[in-house]
Amino acid sequence: MSSSHLFFFYILLLSSMLNTLLAIETTDHLALLAFKNGVTAGALNSWNESVHFCNWTGISCSSRKHPKRVTALDLSMSGLGGFISPSIANLSFIRSIELPVNGFSGEVPPEFGLLHRLHYLNLSFNALHGVVPVNLANCSKLIALDLGTNQLSGSIPVELGQTLPKLEILFLFSNSLTGVIPSSIGNLSSLIYLSLTENNLQGIVPEELGRLSNLIFFQVATNWLNGSIPPDLFNISSLDYFCVASNELQGTLPPSLGAKLPKLTALLLGVNKLSGTIPASLSNASMLQMIDLSRNNFSGTVPPVFGGMNGLFDFNLERNQFQASDAKDLSFIDSLVNCSNLQGFSIGYNDLGGVLPLSLANFSKELWSLFVDYNHFSGIIPHGIENLISLIVMDFSGNDLTGQIPEHIGNIPMLQSLGFAVNKLTGYIPSSVGNLTLLVEFYIYGNKFEGTIPSTMKKLHKLTKLSLSDNSFSGRIPTEIFSQLLSLSFLDLADNSLSGSIPSEIGGLINLQQLLLNGNELSGEIPVSISGCAVLEYLKLQGNLFTGSIPSSLGNLKGLRHLNLSHNSLSGGIPSSFSNLKVLEALNLSRNNLSGSIPEFLEDFKFLSVLDLSYNHFHGELPVKGVFGNSSAVLSVVGNGIKGTIGYVPPEYGLGSEVSTMGDVYSYGILVLELFTGKRPVDERFKDGMTIRKFVEICASHDRIMEVIDPSMFSQEQEDDDIEHGGILSVRKKIECLVSVVALGLACSVESPNERLGMTDVAAQMHAIRKHC
Ligand SMILES: *[C@@H]1O[C@H](CO)[C@@H](O)[C@H](O)[C@H]1NC(C)=O
Ligand SMILES: *[C@@H]1O[C@H](CO)[C@@H](O)[C@H](O)[C@H]1NC(C)=O
Ligand SMILES: *[C@@H]1O[C@H](CO)[C@@H](O)[C@H](O)[C@H]1NC(C)=O
Ligand SMILES: *[C@@H]1O[C@H](CO)[C@@H](O)[C@H](O)[C@H]1NC(C)=O
Ligand SMILES: *[C@@H]1O[C@H](CO)[C@@H](O)[C@H](O)[C@H]1NC(C)=O
Ligand SMILES: *[C@@H]1O[C@H](CO)[C@@H](O)[C@H](O)[C@H]1NC(C)=O
Ligand SMILES: *[C@@H]1O[C@H](CO)[C@@H](O)[C@H](O)[C@H]1NC(C)=O
Ligand SMILES: *[C@@H]1O[C@H](CO)[C@@H](O)[C@H](O)[C@H]1NC(C)=O
Ligand SMILES: *[C@@H]1O[C@H](CO)[C@@H](O)[C@H](O)[C@H]1NC(C)=O
Ligand SMILES: *[C@@H]1O[C@H](CO)[C@@H](O)[C@H](O)[C@H]1NC(C)=O
Ligand SMILES: *[C@@H]1O[C@H](CO)[C@@H](O)[C@H](O)[C@H]1NC(C)=O
Ligand SMILES: *[C@@H]1O[C@H](CO)[C@@H](O)[C@H](O)[C@H]1NC(C)=O
Repeated sequence: MSSSHLFFFYILLLSSMLNTLLAIETTDHLALLAFKNGVTAGALNSWNESVHFCNWTGISCSSRKHPKRVTALDLSMSGLGGFISPSIANLSFIRSIELPVNGFSGEVPPEFGLLHRLHYLNLSFNALHGVVPVNLANCSKLIALDLGTNQLSGSIPVELGQTLPKLEILFLFSNSLTGVIPSSIGNLSSLIYLSLTENNLQGIVPEELGRLSNLIFFQVATNWLNGSIPPDLFNISSLDYFCVASNELQGTLPPSLGAKLPKLTALLLGVNKLSGTIPASLSNASMLQMIDLSRNNFSGTVPPVFGGMNGLFDFNLERNQFQASDAKDLSFIDSLVNCSNLQGFSIGYNDLGGVLPLSLANFSKELWSLFVDYNHFSGIIPHGIENLISLIVMDFSGNDLTGQIPEHIGNIPMLQSLGFAVNKLTGYIPSSVGNLTLLVEFYIYGNKFEGTIPSTMKKLHKLTKLSLSDNSFSGRIPTEIFSQLLSLSFLDLADNSLSGSIPSEIGGLINLQQLLLNGNELSGEIPVSISGCAVLEYLKLQGNLFTGSIPSSLGNLKGLRHLNLSHNSLSGGIPSSFSNLKVLEALNLSRNNLSGSIPEFLEDFKFLSVLDLSYNHFHGELPVKGVFGNSSAVLSVVGNGIKGTIGYVPPEYGLGSEVSTMGDVYSYGILVLELFTGKRPVDERFKDGMTIRKFVEICASHDRIMEVIDPSMFSQEQEDDDIEHGGILSVRKKIECLVSVVALGLACSVESPNERLGMTDVAAQMHAIRKHC
C-alpha cells in the first residue's frame, strides 16, 4: 500500500471512529435530556447547553476514556417530581443511580434491566407505583437495590433471588407488596442487609433464608407473616439486627438462641403469637441493646441473664404471660441493675407477682420509661425511686402495692406521666408533687388515699389528665385546680368525699372535655360559668348534694355527649336551651326534684341512647314519636306523673317494685345487647314473645355470634384494635371477646331480678373483659 493510500485509510478509519464516538456521546446526552423532560417539578437549571453534560449537577462521567460516558447519576433530595424516564436505560455505562428522597411518581422503568453495569440503584423515598420490575434481575452486577418507601405493589419477583449473586442490600420496605417472600431470596449468598418491613406480605418466612450466612440486618416487621421463625435463621452468627415484629408468627425460640448470636444488638419480636420461654442462652448475646418481646404469648419465668449486657437500653416484655411469685423469680430485675444504659423498661400486663424488688430504684439513671403496671406485685413502691432522675413515664398501676407515694416523688424533674392507679396505696398525695411541673398525666384512681388535694398541684400547668377518683379524698377542691390548670382536658375526682361547691373559676378550663365529679358530697348550685368549658363532652355530677336549678348556660355546651346530674336535689325544669345539645347521647336527670313537662325537642336528638328522667315530678305526656318511637333509647320515666311509660326498664318496675341496683343491672344488660347487636328493643321483629334478649341468646355461641353482632360495630372495633394493637388481634380473639361481652349482657338481663349478676360481679367481669380484649 502506498503512503497516500495509507493516509486515506487512516483518515477514513479515524473519522468513522469519531462518528461512532460522537454518536455514543450523543446517546448519553439525549438520554439525559429525555430524563430532564420527565422531570416536571423541581429545577435542573444547571442542565443546559452552556456546559458539557458531564458537568451537569448530579452527573459523573468516566474520567480517562474518551468519549465521556455517564457513570453515575445522583440527584438525592433534589425536590424533583415527575417520572423517571426509561431513557436512563441508554446510559449503558452507568454504575450508580441515586434518586432517593424526591417526588417521582410513575413506575420503575423495566428498561433498567438493560443496565448490565449497574451496581447501585436507590430510588427510595419517592411515590413510585407499579411493580418491582422482574427485569431488574438482569442487572447481575447489582450490589444494592433500594426501593424502600414508595407505593409499589405486586409481589417480589422470584427471579431477583436467582440472578443477583453480588446483591448485598435489598430494601423493599414501606411499600404495598403482596404475596409471599420468595424462597429464592435464600440464594442471594452475598446478602448483608434485607428489609421487607411494612408491606402486606403473607405466608411463611422461608427456611431458605437461614442460608444467608453473611446477613447482618434482617427486618421483615409489619406484614402478615405466619408460621414459625425458621430455626436456621438463629444460626447466622453475623446477625446484628433481627426484627420480625408485628406479624402473626408462632412457635418458640430455640434454646441455643443467644449462644449462636454473639453479635446480636437488636432482638425485636414484639406483636406476634410467639410462645414458650426466654432461653437462658440469651446471656451470651451480650451485645444486645434492644430486647422487645412485647405482645406475644411468652410464658414461664424470665431468666436473670441481662447483667452482662452493658449496652442494653430498651427492654420490653409487656403483654405476655410471664410468671413470678417470689424474689428468685424476680431476680431478672436485679440483673438489669448492671445495664447502665437502660432507658426503657416495661414488664406491664404479665402474670408477675411477689414483692416488687427494691433494686428497681437502682436502675440506670438514664432510665426514662418504667412500666410495671397490671401485674400482681405486692410490697411498696421502691424507696429511692425518685433517684431515677431521667424518668419521663412511670406506671405502677394495677398491682397490689401498699404503703404510700414516696414523699420525694417531686424530685424527678422531667416526669410527664405518673400512674399509681388501682393499687392499695394509702396516705396523702405528697406536697412535693407540685414540683413535677412538666407532668401531663397523673393517675392515682382506685386506691385508699385520703386527706385533701394539695394546693401545690396548682403548679402543674401542663397537666391535661388528672384522675384521683375512687379514693377517700375529702375537703374542698382547691380553687387553684380550676383557676390555674388551664391545660386540663380530663378531670376525674369522682367517688371520693369531696365537699364544698364548684367554684365559678371552673369556666376557665377551656380545654376540658371530661369533668367527672360524681359520687362526692359537693353542694351548692352548678355554676353558670360552667359554660366557659366550651369543649366539654362528658359532664358527670351525679350523686352529690347539688341544689338550685339546672343552669340554662349548660345549653351552650354544644359538644356535650353525656350529661348526668342524677341523684342530686336539683329543682326547676329542663332548660329550653337544651335544645342546642344536638349530639347528646346520654341524659340522666333521674332522682332530683325536677318538674315541668318533658320538652318535645328531645325527639330530634339523633344520638340519644339513654334518657333517664325517672323519680322527678315531670308531668304531662311523652312526645312519643322521634327519639322515643324510633331510636334505640333506653328510656326511663318511672316515678313521675307521666302517662304511658315507654322504655326498657326492668320488668319488675312495672309491678311497682322499688328502684334497685338490680334494675340498673338489667338496664345495663339490655344496653350492652343493643350496643353490640345494633338492634333496638322496639325493633319490629321483637313481638309475639320474641325479645332482644331471646334473639341474642339463640346465637350466643362462638360459631353463631356473628349472626347477631352489628357489622358496623365489628369494623369500628377492628379499627380501634388496629390502632391499639398494631393490627394483629386475631379474628378468633375478637369473637371470644364478643362472646364474653354478649354473655355478660345476657347474664345482666335475666328476667328474674334475683337471678341477675350483682353490680360488683358485673364490674369485675367487665374489667376482666377489658383486660383480656
Ligand atoms: C446553566 O448552568 C450553569 C451551571 O452549570 C448555570 O450557572 C447557568 O445559570 C445555567 N443557565 C441557565 C440559563 O439556567
Ligand atoms: C467540567 O468543568 C471543569 C472545570 O470547570 C473543566 O475542567 C472540565 O473540562 C469540564 N468537563 C467537561 C467534560 O466539559
Ligand atoms: C435509546 O436510544 C435510542 C437511540 O437514540 C433510541 O431509539 C431509544 O428510544 C432510546 N431508548 C430509550 C429507552 O429511551
Ligand atoms: C438510599 O438513599 C437513602 C436516602 O439518602 C439512604 O438513607 C439509604 O441508606 C440509601 N440506601 C442505600 C442502600 O444506600
Ligand atoms: C431481562 O429480563 C427479562 C425478564 O427476566 C427477559 O425476558 C429479558 O430477555 C432480559 N433482557 C436482557 C437484555 O437480558
Ligand atoms: C437456589 O440455588 C440452587 C443452586 O443454584 C438451585 O438449585 C435452587 O433451585 C435455587 N433455589 C431457588 C428457590 O431459587
Ligand atoms: C398462613 O397464611 C396463609 C395465607 O394467609 C394461610 O393460607 C395459611 O394457612 C397460614 N398458615 C398458618 C400456619 O397459619
Ligand atoms: C443450626 O443449628 C442447629 C442446632 O445447632 C443445627 O441442627 C442446624 O444444622 C444448624 N443449621 C445451619 C444451617 O447451620
Ligand atoms: C455461653 O457461651 C459459652 C461459650 O460458648 C458456653 O460455654 C455457655 O454454655 C453459654 N451459656 C449459655 C447459657 O448458653
Ligand atoms: C398462650 O399460652 C398458654 C400457655 O402458656 C396457652 O394456654 C394459651 O392458649 C396461649 N394463648 C394463645 C392465644 O395462643
Ligand atoms: C454485673 O457486672 C459485673 C461486672 O461487669 C459482673 O461481675 C456481675 O456478675 C454482673 N451482675 C449481674 C447480676 O449479672
Ligand atoms: C419540692 O417541693 C417541696 C414541698 O412542696 C418543697 O419544699 C421543695 O422546696 C421543692 N423542691 C424543689 C427543688 O422545688
